[in-house]
Amino acid sequence: MWRASFEWGVGVTDPYPVQEQSAYLLGHVVPSHRVVVAHDDSGIVGFLAFTDDSVGQLYVRVDRIGRGIGSRLLQLAKQQSSGHLWLYTFARNHRALAFYTRHGFAEVARGVEPTWQLEDVRMEWTRPGAPAGPAPPSRLRPTSSPAADAVAPEVESPASTPSPTSVATSSNGP
Ligand SMILES: CC(C)(COP(=O)(O)OP(=O)(O)OC[C@H]1O[C@@H](n2cnc3c(N)ncnc32)[C@H](O)[C@@H]1OP(=O)(O)O)[C@@H](O)C(=O)NCCC(=O)NCCS
Repeated sequence: MWRASFEWGVGVTDPYPVQEQSAYLLGHVVPSHRVVVAHDDSGIVGFLAFTDDSVGQLYVRVDRIGRGIGSRLLQLAKQQSSGHLWLYTFARNHRALAFYTRHGFAEVARGVEPTWQLEDVRMEWTRPGAPAGPAPPSRLRPTSSPAADAVAPEVESPASTPSPTSVATSSNGP
């Protein structure tokens, strides 16, 4: 569901083998993030990976998009955050950009994500009343130069979400 949701949101076909994605999940994402999976009777419908100050991954299963699941997951990341969150999303992913903006994130930088060579947007959120946070690490590179690195997204809380989805926290502390 992660791959299909990514392809749907970004509008690309992922050319990398699924084994590489699994290895990245298990070798990088899980050891360095708290991972939350949302599920209903049909199985896994959402996936969030986050730390105290960042949202690494936020994906909702394509057939469950627009039902408040992403908002609930993002709200969880906010609640458990230090008061600041940063994330990256591709500029062409207009729905994700709008989603994060609605949830209080502001664009702070643009550049090129080196793996996909797509325009990338760094967004940040600060809890109301919290002091300014530290500068986050950057994966952005000037438009003309390639390099290394990678990461992604997140969401917040709808006031009216009658989703039957439950959220199972299988956590891995940072
Ligand atoms: C971006 C993403 C995570 C947002 O998650 P989501 O579950 O679709 O988001 P939500 O449903 O919480 O909110 C989106 C819309 O649904 C509405 N909504 C919320 N609860 C709802 C409900 N119970 N029923 C119907 N709609 C609902 C929200 O109000 C919002 O509407 P709006 O677009 O008019 O403002 C999801 O679209 C996604 O996974 N996209 C593909 C992958 C991706 O791009 N990930 C981010 C990479 S950076």
